[in-house]
Amino acid sequence: MHEQFLLFGATGDLAAGQVVPALANLLRDRLLPHGFRLHAVAKTRFDSNEAFRNWLGERVSKRAGDAADADALRELLKRTDYTAVDLSRPEALAAGLDIKSEGGLLSYLAVPPDLFVPIAQGLKQAGLLDDPARLLLEKPIGRDLASARAINAAIAQCVPESRVFRLDHYLGKATVQNLLAMRFGNTLLEAVWSRRWIERVDILVAETAGVDGREQYYSHYGALRDMVQNHMLQLLCLIAMEPPSALDADTVRDNKLMALRALRPLTADTAASESVRGVYQSGVVGAQAVGGFTQLEGQSIETFVALRAHIDNWRWAGVPFHLVTGKRLAERSTQVVVTFKPVSHWLFEKPQRQQALPNRLLIRLQPEENIELQLMSSLAGPEWGAMELQPLPLDLSMPPTRRRRIAYERLFLDALNGRSALFVRDDEVEAAWRWIDSIDNAWRDAGCEAIPYVAGSWGPQQAQAFLPQSLARAARALA
Ligand code: BG6
Repeated sequence: MHEQFLLFGATGDLAAGQVVPALANLLRDRLLPHGFRLHAVAKTRFDSNEAFRNWLGERVSKRAGDAADADALRELLKRTDYTAVDLSRPEALAAGLDIKSEGGLLSYLAVPPDLFVPIAQGLKQAGLLDDPARLLLEKPIGRDLASARAINAAIAQCVPESRVFRLDHYLGKATVQNLLAMRFGNTLLEAVWSRRWIERVDILVAETAGVDGREQYYSHYGALRDMVQNHMLQLLCLIAMEPPSALDADTVRDNKLMALRALRPLTADTAASESVRGVYQSGVVGAQAVGGFTQLEGQSIETFVALRAHIDNWRWAGVPFHLVTGKRLAERSTQVVVTFKPVSHWLFEKPQRQQALPNRLLIRLQPEENIELQLMSSLAGPEWGAMELQPLPLDLSMPPTRRRRIAYERLFLDALNGRSALFVRDDEVEAAWRWIDSIDNAWRDAGCEAIPYVAGSWGPQQAQAFLPQSLARAARALA
């Protein structure tokens, strides 16, 4: 296991909110090696290592609250040093980093994608990418297919793909891994996992938070690039990919790649019927008045996307995959819903066939992590007279563990250990961008603008048909 963790972007929100708390928790649980050290790097100058540690400690406690263990954070900060350097100049970086790579070095680039290449080049010049050093890249990898390709090609000049780890924190969430376990560990699901038995799939990532201080980044990326290109397509891949013959990194990633390549591109002709863009205006979220999204001048970006995706292969032909994500929505809710077809022949008086609920597998990732199978059952008692069917939700979750882990914890451990199955490969990233580019081009060609929606609603009314069925009802009630 590598012992040294070089963190670029150490003064950013991600570092304080997720990265440092995750490392502190791993340290507390004694999952990091004895000689573990954190080398923090960013542009801002601090008077001393001590000054940086104090600043970071306070910021983490403020941002992460209970998620960071206070004793473990103190212990981590003792093992932390800081370097201020211009990240956009490889020579300055190579000269400024005084780090020995003994014990194995993992460099994590928690910075905007335009800094990936200069940083990788600086690391290479400093000899800090020599075998067995590894490079961990935060999403997004580029802004479109062309920029992603350029980044991947330039990175490949610095370090081989086998030592590059592209991070998507959704792959570190316990329920996402459980999705694989459920799908491939159960005959019952194996038998029905196709167009023959599945009616539709919904993937929803609804947030109550707004863009909040990230306007600069967000105005150039929007919800399509910030959420759909990575997190939502990774979820789609895990649902849609063909069963791998083994769980090794390349077999799993080969199969995800096939699913991505089978996504039907959006065109100007289909843009209006298969997608909705939205942008939040002022409103009320959780009983609090909030402002609208302020676009940077000259930009017109969406904070909400609804898409009906089609996977053109034998398994999924004709099954719509609805992808919906948005900021400042009515509730925080991340869920995957697999809705099965209605039973072939309905025998019961009550409810009538049209009112019967189809079977559904509901995988909730947020706010709670759990998995539920929705079945129909009867209240069988003589006093009920005619047999009446009722929905019966079957809770398939593991008993709650002592503490929910931060998704980054699992991914950092895997990267430090050199396990790549939960990281995204270069060709996967490019296939995802190819589809995203088709949507962006279709929107441009068809003139699809972001439709305003009130903060605290379920997005533009035009998007109701894209929501999971249970939420569509709530959305109509709110409208
Ligand atoms: C990040 C996006 O990758 O994921 C954010 O940049 C988003 O805009 C976040 O809020 C959502 O992650 P989670 O784990 O809270 O669903």
